[in-house]
Amino acid sequence: MPNRERWATRIGLILAMAGNAVGLGNFLRFPTQAAQNGGGVFMIPYMISLVLIAIPLMWVEWAIGRYGGVRGHGTTPAIFRLLWQHPVAKYIGVLGLFVPFVVSCYYVYIESWTLGYAVMSLFGMLPKVSAASASPEVYLAPFKEFLNSYTGMGEGDFYHPSLKAYIFLLITMGLNVYVLIKGISGGIERLAKVAMPLLFFFAIVLMIRVFTLETSHGSAVAGLNFLWEPKWSELANPKVWLAAAGQVFFTLSLGFGAIITYASYLKRNDDITLSALTASSLNELAEVVLGGSIAIPAAAAFFGVAAAQTIAASGAFNLAFVSLPAIFANIPFGQFFGFLWFILLFFAGLTSSVAITQPVIAFLEDEFKMERRLAVLSTMFVLFFVAHVAVFLAGALDEMDFWAGTFFVVVFALCEVLIFFWAFNPSQAWAEINRGGYIKLPRLFFYIMRYVTPAFLFLITVWWVVTILPGYLMESRWTSWVTREILVAIMAVFCFLVYFQDKRRRRK
Ligand code: PHE
Repeated sequence: MPNRERWATRIGLILAMAGNAVGLGNFLRFPTQAAQNGGGVFMIPYMISLVLIAIPLMWVEWAIGRYGGVRGHGTTPAIFRLLWQHPVAKYIGVLGLFVPFVVSCYYVYIESWTLGYAVMSLFGMLPKVSAASASPEVYLAPFKEFLNSYTGMGEGDFYHPSLKAYIFLLITMGLNVYVLIKGISGGIERLAKVAMPLLFFFAIVLMIRVFTLETSHGSAVAGLNFLWEPKWSELANPKVWLAAAGQVFFTLSLGFGAIITYASYLKRNDDITLSALTASSLNELAEVVLGGSIAIPAAAAFFGVAAAQTIAASGAFNLAFVSLPAIFANIPFGQFFGFLWFILLFFAGLTSSVAITQPVIAFLEDEFKMERRLAVLSTMFVLFFVAHVAVFLAGALDEMDFWAGTFFVVVFALCEVLIFFWAFNPSQAWAEINRGGYIKLPRLFFYIMRYVTPAFLFLITVWWVVTILPGYLMESRWTSWVTREILVAIMAVFCFLVYFQDKRRRRK
């Protein structure tokens, strides 16, 4: 039996899985998506997608991962080949390397901003203002300028990030390397055991602070009302459904291959059903309760609901790096609360970025028998190199997020369920999920996984291709095309590695 690493404890595993899922998506992407899609309208498709696609897929990914891990493989090129003896299976599995790798290249960069902002906030290096009564635009302007000069994201074809931004990127890369080199139980699990409880604690402190904000513009409760008041009439809008399903995928790390790789370090009879549900619940708690109770309510209390909505609609970065620092600049102990906010984001980011990098590392270890140290260093070296595209080329970050973080995750998730519940063997797949389970899943979920989830995913894919893709491709600039060529090149390299490895394996 191949000797792979294992999680050391159950609580460690669950916290690591929760750390994988709880990320910048919960605190930045979720509030922005909700605000851009009408608030309360968003939550209905969100909940439906959660129950019909996400939770079933979570069990599927855990089961696929454990199945592969027990047989010595932690990534989908090899696992799909085991599940489905068809020459194309391993190439479909390439998505399980491509998606997390591309996302990691920009994720680490944004994560590094949160570290930079945490440090700058603590030492009072963020803008200070006194004119609390000015209009939101006037008031936010210095903070916007500060962010612009930090990231150097201007109008031109190239960005000119500040030296600070670059240094914090280097530090963040270094911290990721440090954790990853220590391995699954020694690095990732130990990090999660410390970072996750702290993260929840910080978020609760911030939530309490936000709920006690009262200004002449409004209160936090107005922001909550906006998020939670259902507006049924908008339910027929496909755009809202796509956004909600996309968010559920992103936040739970589904369709990235990252959950599969983590699950590959389970033992043969380890519980899946309850553990996967617990980790998902922790993520949803961090998302809808904590993620929904900080940024938007704070902005609503400070600038009024309408302005909060405008800020959120202008993007996640404006909400997190502009409007929140602006609010903290005006309350007692603001430097400290600002630090809490950004260090919370940083912990969320770090426990996720190690999860997105691990698949490629596991691939090199499992399939090329590379030693961990070398696997980590070579993966991070290439990642650092490609991250420069996101750092310097205008629009590249959004382009990578569009393809890898939004489109291919859905396609990949569809492939996963089809391979597991159709190409493999439905009753064996069901048994695989339930083996060792602390709770027994109702049989209903068998039918959901076999029919409803794939049908739903198929519908979303088609919807995407028909309604979003054409417009998106039409309005692209030259930098987008360069980014796309880079993405194709990355995909080609992974395909080649898989081809090469497969040939070598057969010769043996
Ligand atoms: N789920 C993470 C978030 O919410 C993102 C992520 C995706 C992390 C895939 C790991 C793997 O930010």
